[in-house]
Amino acid sequence: MQKNNTDRAEWGSNLGFLLAAVGSAVGLGNIWGFPYKLGKSGGFAFLVVYMILVMTVGVVIMAAELSLGRRTGKGVVGAFASLGKKYTIIGWMGYAAPLLIMGFYSVLAGYCLKYAIGNFQAMFGAPIADSGAFFSGMLQNQGESVLYTLICLGLTLLIVIGGIDKGIERFSKIAMPALFVMMVVVIIRSVTLEGASEGLKFMFVPNPDVLKENSMLGLLSTAGGQMFFSLSLGMGTMVTYGSYLPKKENIVKNAVFISLADTAVAIMAGLAVMPAVFATMAKTGDTSLLKSGPSLLFVSLQTVFYEMGAVGAVFGFIFYALVLIAAITSMVSLVEALCAYFIDRQEQQGKPVTRKKIACMVGAVVAVSGIIVAMDGLGSNGMWVPFHIDCWLDFFDICAENILMPTTAFLIAVSLGWCKNPHDILDEMEADGSTFRYRKAYIFCIRYIVPVVMLMVLVGMLKAIPTMIVK
Ligand code: TRP
Repeated sequence: MQKNNTDRAEWGSNLGFLLAAVGSAVGLGNIWGFPYKLGKSGGFAFLVVYMILVMTVGVVIMAAELSLGRRTGKGVVGAFASLGKKYTIIGWMGYAAPLLIMGFYSVLAGYCLKYAIGNFQAMFGAPIADSGAFFSGMLQNQGESVLYTLICLGLTLLIVIGGIDKGIERFSKIAMPALFVMMVVVIIRSVTLEGASEGLKFMFVPNPDVLKENSMLGLLSTAGGQMFFSLSLGMGTMVTYGSYLPKKENIVKNAVFISLADTAVAIMAGLAVMPAVFATMAKTGDTSLLKSGPSLLFVSLQTVFYEMGAVGAVFGFIFYALVLIAAITSMVSLVEALCAYFIDRQEQQGKPVTRKKIACMVGAVVAVSGIIVAMDGLGSNGMWVPFHIDCWLDFFDICAENILMPTTAFLIAVSLGWCKNPHDILDEMEADGSTFRYRKAYIFCIRYIVPVVMLMVLVGMLKAIPTMIVK
């Protein structure tokens, strides 16, 4: 593995890096994916499997990605290219994924912005009484959806243009503590609502029926897929963030911290969301509120805020602003991963780095897919979608999450564990002068556990695709 460390930009402090990396990891995946999957896939059993996977697969790949980035000093394409020519394809697969994810992530961030503004207005005027109508009205208003999408993308670009320490790090240092405080506020309200305990039971009490229905393979693949998306793995973001990490920082400790923090926030998101949803279901008798994905976030939860009465708009505003912040810090990492390829090229050619130009160019490309997804409005505007998939959002999501992500993660593990000497990665982990005591266990995980789990995730993900297609 070629080493390359010239004048690359660096994080100003380890704390700044941590907040940026946790910011990347904490996103929509935590807030609308985790709580629902936790409840639906067996509660406590899911949590145990998830935690085991985080420690044996997530941390392993996270440390590998960070090491690969720091060792090569490059973004995902350059990092894999420096392993050898035939590895370049893995780099490009890791590059394609953020491109696809950005297409829908920016639209969803735009929806959060719209809801934050809507709830802010409701503090002074009429509450949003019919969340379903508010949602479909928004989806069908193509011009407005595109506008909000572009505003969120523009904000992301501004932060990326600011650079590693003065843009991403500085924003994360304000945004992440703010997000934490806002989340605690929402949790306190949620768990003190009448009937909230049913939501806690849904999430945490072991539910043997679910385990009977869901095969172990199903549980593993749901938990594994969720974990990869939530930890921002398999798509080059952590490779890119690692490439800006100074040699003196300890990779293993950082990888463990990021993974645990992400999991903690996912559980906190569950505490913020599920008790409130169950309390509202008990109050209104409307059991259809228990959903996942966009309708959980934009229909069910808005109903929850309406049912809270006058203060609902305040909590609604705080909540959607919180989700918006979480989405923006994730988008920043995706865009940075896309920009890194061009930054690497300029550095290699000895040219001055034109971050602003690169970010605008990447932004323009991402805007195209964002506009398509925004215009499509989750399929409510009758647009054509390839392969008869439900909507453009699902199309991008299937390509990225169901196909590319598990495949790339599998290939990363096989190439680093088998084709290349895994000791290179381990040496990089010790580059700060520390000794990593679990070398053997690490090699065992990257050689055997990670590939097997990723294959299971891939099978589970491929099996799920037909259910996402309209026949
Ligand atoms: N982890 C983020 C979430 O949970 C999304 C995300 C950001 C991501 N960067 C990524 C997912 C890179 C996969 C790869 O919402």
